[in-house]
Amino acid sequence: MSKINLSSKIFVDGADPEETRETKRLLGFVDGQTTNPTLVSKNPAARERIEKREKFTREEIYHFYKEVVNKIAKITQGPISVEVYADSETKAEQMLEEAREMQNWIDNAYIKFPITKEGLKAAHFAVKEGIPINMTLCFSQEQAAAVYAATLGAKKPIFVSPFVGRLDDRGENGMELVFNIIRMYQIGDGHVLPLTASVRNLEHLLYAIQIGSPLITVPFKVIKEWAENGFVLPDEKFNYQPNLKPIDYKEIALDKNWQDYDPSHDLTDIGVEKFSRDWKNLIR
Ligand code: G3P
Repeated sequence: MSKINLSSKIFVDGADPEETRETKRLLGFVDGQTTNPTLVSKNPAARERIEKREKFTREEIYHFYKEVVNKIAKITQGPISVEVYADSETKAEQMLEEAREMQNWIDNAYIKFPITKEGLKAAHFAVKEGIPINMTLCFSQEQAAAVYAATLGAKKPIFVSPFVGRLDDRGENGMELVFNIIRMYQIGDGHVLPLTASVRNLEHLLYAIQIGSPLITVPFKVIKEWAENGFVLPDEKFNYQPNLKPIDYKEIALDKNWQDYDPSHDLTDIGVEKFSRDWKNLIR
């Protein structure tokens, strides 16, 4: 039974099924899950192998990821995001091939592509095949507009994941990006849902709820903090005003050709590089 009543859906951000199970016990529900290569590398069983210097073969690590995702799928029937491998050289066709494979791992898989030129191209073709997708490493409103345009006509809701904490890390108010994307999408057809990601603390979570982020993915550490605070919800007195540089709203049309948006962002490139490095570190 759910312990709270929310319009936002709460996902677990992690790759440890035990955390998903514990979240369900604490919250009474889990609406979905997001994983990524870094989170897979932090899974306790994966860490144990790496500490024992028993790295995975390429086949073994995919098998391991698949098993993790299958365990999570036994706990939540909601969307479970699974990320394709990508580095700066990876082409859309390679991402698509992996997406087709990963989509078959479980019934409720959402495939994550990075918001790069190649990732957008992969997404554009994936939606034509009916593959549900979550576009990750979003750091600008322009990237969110590109996702919207590239995935028009999708049969299932598409997710876009603004990474709040990583913008905060460099002094920019990441939650404002979420706010701006929600505002920008108001003129759209509703086929893309913002998924607040890179949540680092309870304030992020509460503000995401307050502004009506449709989806929020939350690391277990923050879920625990929320439970310890009696699942507090933002009331009219809750005022999120971090000491961070504002991110101004931009007027961006959603009806351009998807290739005409500029999806480049240095934090996306850094993020792709880190996911790739963490994944490769697992493989011998
Ligand atoms: O959901 C995205 C998340 O896992 C990234 O979080 O803390 O590495 O920025 P973080």
